[in-house]
Amino acid sequence: MSEKASGLPRIARYKPYYQALEKGRTYRWCSCGLSSRQPFCDGSHRGTGYEPVSYTAREQGEEVLFCGCKHSAAQPFCDGAHNNLKGEYESDDPNSAANRAVRLVSADKDGRAWLNGGCYVQSPASGGASTRGNLSVSSLINADSGARFQSQFYFEAGGGTSPVVGFGRRDVALLVTAGSGRIEISGRRFAIEPETGVYIRPGEAFRIDNPGGGAIKVFASVCPLAHSPEWPALMPENFDARFPERVVGIDRENRQAMGNRFFQILVDSAVGSDVVTQFIGEIPLSKALPHRHLYEESLVILRGSGYMWTQDLKAKVSAGDIVFLPRKQQHSLECTDAGGLYLVGVIYPGNNPAVNY
Ligand code: FES
Repeated sequence: MSEKASGLPRIARYKPYYQALEKGRTYRWCSCGLSSRQPFCDGSHRGTGYEPVSYTAREQGEEVLFCGCKHSAAQPFCDGAHNNLKGEYESDDPNSAANRAVRLVSADKDGRAWLNGGCYVQSPASGGASTRGNLSVSSLINADSGARFQSQFYFEAGGGTSPVVGFGRRDVALLVTAGSGRIEISGRRFAIEPETGVYIRPGEAFRIDNPGGGAIKVFASVCPLAHSPEWPALMPENFDARFPERVVGIDRENRQAMGNRFFQILVDSAVGSDVVTQFIGEIPLSKALPHRHLYEESLVILRGSGYMWTQDLKAKVSAGDIVFLPRKQQHSLECTDAGGLYLVGVIYPGNNPAVNY
């Protein structure tokens, strides 16, 4: 192989290429960026030291995002590297002529502001809550609201110890947004405080111990989706000790840059989940370029405010709201606060919130 030509790879484009593949067919992804048949090789790499990367589709209709910037470490697929090549996350002008024509929608009688493609913004206060012991429960994202992969429940725990909550053989990522106390996961106890993520493994259960003061507020993302919680009479003693660390707080050392945005993973394989990823993100005063994801996503706005945009509708978002984003739905989140907007997202199935197209 010859020395690699300097100046390569050439950036074919700053986002990946979506493809639905044919089972058993082998695709030759262009790694040099010179091909005129992007994202596939046309032989232009000869003499450059670059070679195409082959991938054989495992399933009919397998949906992939082939890297377009040629800087991915997960070749031939996108790993979000394109977000960091221009120094800042690609933004959009909220005051462009096209964006000024976008209509602002407000919540319907169920408390949801519906955007294009089944995306919606909801305030938990508007959800119909039921109670069990000292725990109130609202279902915010579910099959009835259009979700196919993940559901989200909102719990408020008053003083004392809550009933035991389980979700069967599902992965559960909890987000504590207010209050401090303890959580018991299948016999193991952990301290919790605001802006911490908690991971519950399939088959485990949990309960919240609130020593007093205000309510402990918790969002539970359940994957795959569940219609309602289960209420085991007793706490199971089945804590999976292979994954002893379950509560993850904010640690600026663990922030990852995505252009001029940042995110920190709270729940992923490091705490035991191979299928669910929970992250906390910081968004500066800006509107992202409209984009899509291959995963279903839920967001909880922690601080700040702005708008969630889809093709021709937008809705206000502010602290405490949740957002549901179906797979492949075009969207763009705008932060309108000089101090930034902070959110926690759960993607499922997926492991990299930086991958977009
Ligand atoms: S043309 Fe780019 S790898 Fe073949």
